[in-house]
Amino acid sequence: MDQLDQQIRSYEEEINSFQPNDANELEAFRIRFLGTKGIVKQIFGAMKDVPADQKKEAGQRLNAFKQLAEARHASFLHLQKSTKSKDTTQDLTLPGTPVPRGGRHPLRVVENQIVSLFEKLGFSVASGPEIEDDWHNFGSMNLPEHHPARDMQDTFYISKNPDWLLRTHSSSIQARVMESEKPPIRVICPGRVYRNETISARAHCFFHQCEGLYIDKNVSFADLKQTLYYFVTEMFGANTRVRFRPSYFPFTEPSAEMDISCTVCGGSGCSLCKHTGWVEILGCGMVHPNVLRNFNIDPDVYTGFAFGMGVERITQVKFQVNDLRLYSQNDIRFLRQFESL
Ligand code: PHE
Repeated sequence: MDQLDQQIRSYEEEINSFQPNDANELEAFRIRFLGTKGIVKQIFGAMKDVPADQKKEAGQRLNAFKQLAEARHASFLHLQKSTKSKDTTQDLTLPGTPVPRGGRHPLRVVENQIVSLFEKLGFSVASGPEIEDDWHNFGSMNLPEHHPARDMQDTFYISKNPDWLLRTHSSSIQARVMESEKPPIRVICPGRVYRNETISARAHCFFHQCEGLYIDKNVSFADLKQTLYYFVTEMFGANTRVRFRPSYFPFTEPSAEMDISCTVCGGSGCSLCKHTGWVEILGCGMVHPNVLRNFNIDPDVYTGFAFGMGVERITQVKFQVNDLRLYSQNDIRFLRQFESL
């Protein structure tokens, strides 16, 4: 019994100081002590040589020893588990978890295209606040109070302050540029605008515009036409034709609306062009002298042109989107069609 006890004691020391570095070492420990031919089994086998009167004590001693070995082994089982799972995640031949790619919204795609075309001509990008005051949205744009043309743009006013409103056009950005910069001015102003319209396939209470402004000495209507012609051929293709129709805007004189030959039917007539062969895409004109004066720009020295287009409209013509509501419904089936752009 003494002999057995001494042997167990030395094994216990070994067990207590056992500190495996990995699952392999733990497994070697298990085989050495707890395996079918392991030390615990061997020592239990030695029980038969223990005298009968000492068997009870020896049995308790052996059981304690066995439990120690088992407990020590169990306390390192996490090693085995984590190493095992690590092994599977480190299989570099497995395919990765797919991450679906997002895409840009079609309006943003088109806005980026418009902006970059004008950047090539030396226009810089300007932005401004969506909550505006009356002066920047209307007053400075030659639309004094009670001007009938204010009705052309049904306005959302902020109830806290009747002088505040949601900008109805991106011309308010131009107002802010003219206020803070001296000519020559060459800016392109993209932004969201708001009008009190009932939402339908053809109207929405918010939409996006992109306006351009060029003020310098000797800027003429010919410059305006050539600039917009460049824009149209780059945007819609070299064969696209343009025409200008006289129009009215309070902030430009003379004013025009520009049509392009229908990009779907080429002019022979379809539902996009309502069988006229032409599609209206923007308003434009020479900046009204009153507008220049409002920003202390001398109209006898400087002239300028301005134009404004709806980004939804350009997108509709480019991609045949037939319902304005699609742009803000976040329907993934619609948006996915523009993913690769
Ligand atoms: N601001 C005008 C609108 O929203 C568009 C426009 C801009 C027309 C500049 C002429 C010149 O309808």
